[in-house]
Amino acid sequence: MSEIPDDIYTEPENVDVNTLANLGPLAAMAGIWEGERGVDVNPKPEGPRRQAYIERIELHPIDPQANGPQLLYGLRYHTRVIKPGEIETYHDQVGYWLWEPATEALIHTLTIPRGQVALATGRAARDATSFEVVATRGSTENGICSGQFLEAAFRTIEFRIEVTINADGTWSYFEDTILMVKGQTEPFHHTDRNTLTKVGEPRLNPLAEAAGT
Ligand code: HEM
Repeated sequence: MSEIPDDIYTEPENVDVNTLANLGPLAAMAGIWEGERGVDVNPKPEGPRRQAYIERIELHPIDPQANGPQLLYGLRYHTRVIKPGEIETYHDQVGYWLWEPATEALIHTLTIPRGQVALATGRAARDATSFEVVATRGSTENGICSGQFLEAAFRTIEFRIEVTINADGTWSYFEDTILMVKGQTEPFHHTDRNTLTKVGEPRLNPLAEAAGT
């Protein structure tokens, strides 16, 4: 929320428990998706390496979340990325996409098993078909936190992801993770892009399921 009210405890009443109907710009991302044409650019000793990848991402609604008067609706996601023809997980990521209807604030959290977390923020209108969230190292509101090795050897100074909801029902993203690699003076742009096609419907959030909505 942009302005902090005097009463930070009282939660909103008569909250609509149907998360799918209150996700604003995130509604088009709910469900199970696959993308076969991902492109990753990652840091290698000999320079940037381009790698094609295949991705599966599940985004399912969670029950509405109240922080006192702040009401958030969201999706919990899990992304798994492999190289074509392989089984080994090439990239794994979990987190939330959240939207606050009252302020149109967007929050994207990510955790990756390299020992790294980030909270990226932005803003998007209810009917937006393109939006971006950004995290910056050092910020206490939209920051990045890495374990000791990564912080010393591959320091992430910024992360951003831009999402575009396409007219044909697919959605695409472009993300840029800016790394300061030990021994190099120029930032490295570790980028990823993909387009996701729906392969399954989202599960209802528990309260919506119980209400039979
Ligand atoms: C589809 C998404 C992504 C894919 C496929 C991917 C893949 C990779 C690969 C292949 C490497 C090089 C690993 C190695 O050679 O050891 C790498 C490095 C790295 N990635 Fe990603 N990545 C993705 C997204 C992200 C995101 C979102 C972040 C953080 C916000 C991130 C943070 C890092 C860091 C810090 C490194 C450097 C560590 C290292 O090279 O050992 N990556 N990534």
